[in-house]
Amino acid sequence: MEDGTLRAIEVDGQSLVLGNVDGKLYAVSGLCSHLGSKLALGSLHGPTLTCFAHLWTYDIRTGEPVWPPMARVAPGYRLRSHPVRIEGGKIWVSRRPGRRGLN
Ligand code: FES
Repeated sequence: MEDGTLRAIEVDGQSLVLGNVDGKLYAVSGLCSHLGSKLALGSLHGPTLTCFAHLWTYDIRTGEPVWPPMARVAPGYRLRSHPVRIEGGKIWVSRRPGRRGLN
């Protein structure tokens, strides 16, 4: 998986999106917290994940919304962030979100 790419994955029935930021992999909820569009159809520039539908942006490293800045007024708009590790040449994504959204 190349830098700046996104891939839809499923973990235990959960739709997630995996993104590569400078060689490090991050996984967050696969559906936009605005109206549920598939985030894997969006784009990734640095750590900024942009939803194709209405251009909401998130920091894929934490799941925090960047624009609009919903985190301050409605924390429920944050994407769940799932820890990722690479072991034995395989990508392992936790089925449980990270405690603070940081990997
Ligand atoms: S559904 Fe993603 S920005 Fe609207």
